[in-house]
Amino acid sequence: MNEITPTVKTETAASPACARAPVGLLAELTHRCPLQCPYCSNPLDLERSNVELSTADWQKVMREAAALGILQIHLSGGEPTARKDLEDIVQTAAEVGLYTNLITAGVLLTKERLARLAELGLDHVQLSIQDVDPANADRIAAYKGGAAKKREVARWVKELGLPLTVNAPIHRQNIKSMSKIIDYAVEVGAGRLEVAHIQYYAWALKNRAALMPTREDFMKTAEIVEAAKERLKGILVIDFVVPDYYAKYPKPCMGGWGRGIINVTPSGRVLPCHAAESLPGLTFDNVRDRALGDIWLNGDAFQKYRGTDWMKEPCRSCARKEIDFGGCRCQAFALTGDATNTDPACSLSPLHEEWAKVAEVESHREPPEFIYRRVGKSSAQGGGSDGSQTDNL
Ligand SMILES: C[S@@+](CC[C@H](N)C(=O)[O-])C[C@H]1O[C@@H](n2cnc3c(N)ncnc32)[C@H](O)[C@@H]1O
Ligand code: SF4
Ligand code: SF4
Repeated sequence: MNEITPTVKTETAASPACARAPVGLLAELTHRCPLQCPYCSNPLDLERSNVELSTADWQKVMREAAALGILQIHLSGGEPTARKDLEDIVQTAAEVGLYTNLITAGVLLTKERLARLAELGLDHVQLSIQDVDPANADRIAAYKGGAAKKREVARWVKELGLPLTVNAPIHRQNIKSMSKIIDYAVEVGAGRLEVAHIQYYAWALKNRAALMPTREDFMKTAEIVEAAKERLKGILVIDFVVPDYYAKYPKPCMGGWGRGIINVTPSGRVLPCHAAESLPGLTFDNVRDRALGDIWLNGDAFQKYRGTDWMKEPCRSCARKEIDFGGCRCQAFALTGDATNTDPACSLSPLHEEWAKVAEVESHREPPEFIYRRVGKSSAQGGGSDGSQTDNL
């Protein structure tokens, strides 16, 4: 059902390693965002508004995605609601039959706008929170009043009859709220809660020492989540993302390179994962120049680590190589200097022990101040340079 149709033009023979369409497309509509989360997964070098794709470009992406056999569109960013044309993009996505998921921090929404988006075909809202304690949440995001506004947005989502997922990135500065975060998700009527222990790349890697929880605190969250899963069966589904530093095996990053997800940046570059630009020697096609299906099948960046042929030992002869695909290429490169090495998150990597020690050491030290996510420059205090909350928009 999800096979790519023969109407996709190919410049070279398609790789037999992956003749399927991606299930989901992550559309990073903009890198603009009024919040400044110090763990943000957006690149350190944020794309500015003057390079962003136009409305017509994004509508073309939606049509090409549907033609390719993609089922779900994740409208993300930055803050996707910072785009004034979000309505046009949602409408086109719905018209071509895509399931639309809005991944949002919520603070820019009004009830009227959300209602209009629902009318135009928006299917699902994924709302992120920083903490249940409003003062701590606003400190983490460097945005006053954000936590209160998010509660309101969650209420509107439910009133409009849309399904709601709450996304809670977990780190040492909110980890003690784990139980209350689960209660919050139930209170606001979410059907799903993603307990996402921080993934340490981009801004999160810069702030790792301020964010890394201790192993003991991490283990407690695992226990709390397990118990809640049992207690809340039929009420709330909880997904639990384990931090790499405390795992035995790595996660199958992006479900395998060029295998299930395609990512389009604000300026239209097409990536196999949102951190792929950190890897040297890869060329990324742009949706302005080449059809999405052709990029997916034949683009250099997608072919590079697709399948398992590129693997070295110990992955090459490992029974798990089709389960976790050797982990994360970007993490392997960042920590070993070679993207074809086994991700050090794996206990079979020769570098694993040394790497895991970093977490033990950093998590027991006094946390340094946050370096907040800012366009152009980072800030140790947060807030706009003139104290405003709109510098990043
Ligand atoms: C990059 S944000 C963009 C959408 C929107 N601004 C928001 O925060 O909801 C997409 C999602 O990733 C989560 N996230 C961001 N950085 C992360 C990290 N380093 N590890 C885990 N989740 C992260 C956010 O909480 C959010 O749910
Ligand atoms: S700073 Fe926070 S709210 Fe903004 S894009 Fe990053 S994770 Fe989302
Ligand atoms: S050696 Fe490679 S394939 Fe095997 S578990 Fe580790 S990362 Fe996965």
